[in-house]
Amino acid sequence: MAKRLAERGGLEIRAAVDDDLPALTALYNHYIETSSATFDLEPWTVERRRAVWFAKYAPTGPYRILVAEDAGQIVGMAYSSPWREKAAYATSVETSVYCLDGATGQGIGPQLISALLEALATEPLHRAFAQITLPNDPSEKLTERAGYERVGVLSEAGWKFGRYWDVALWQRPIGRGR
Ligand SMILES: CC(C)(COP(=O)(O)OP(=O)(O)OC[C@H]1O[C@@H](n2cnc3c(N)ncnc32)[C@H](O)[C@@H]1OP(=O)(O)O)[C@@H](O)C(=O)NCCC(=O)NCCS
Repeated sequence: MAKRLAERGGLEIRAAVDDDLPALTALYNHYIETSSATFDLEPWTVERRRAVWFAKYAPTGPYRILVAEDAGQIVGMAYSSPWREKAAYATSVETSVYCLDGATGQGIGPQLISALLEALATEPLHRAFAQITLPNDPSEKLTERAGYERVGVLSEAGWKFGRYWDVALWQRPIGRGR
């Protein structure tokens, strides 16, 4: 894969479709198995990922999945999820970005988060939150560059790979508000 793929201009960023699910599931399962970046512990099947995760998102509205595609291959995804279930939180979303293993460090993540924030600009949203398991310098840099402010650290918030992990909480304005 060429260096700085995102700058080569061949990257297409678009809304995710059902046919993307096998690639998106594999991309994410890699990080479940190898990384503290996600607190999921068990890999997803495509069928369960469709029913439990993909079904919550749509090409329009506050909860979206964008994918980055290069020459027919999914190389990253960014998505906005409900922050909490209780109704008053409907003006907040949580944003997440994952690049394909082997496609990190090429500027794809920053393009995805920018596209997601832009896509949500006219939605009746007010706050975007991001949670980053520490340490994760590329993710914290991406998040800071995308205009988020680090508001605190949840200490030892999760247990994975036989140890506790701290999680940094970041926030930024998003959307048009109510
Ligand atoms: C985190 C992630 C989304 C960032 O996307 P990316 O396309 O790799 O981002 P970039 O290569 O543009 O790197 C983002 C910034 O981090 C910097 N960076 C990259 N690797 C770094 C490292 N090891 N240490 C410090 N900074 C690093 C880059 O230089 C860039 O900084 P800049 O804006 O000053 O140029 C991607 O690396 C990824 O998917 N990682 C694995 C999954 C993950 O951790 N997801 C986030 C969950 S919170």
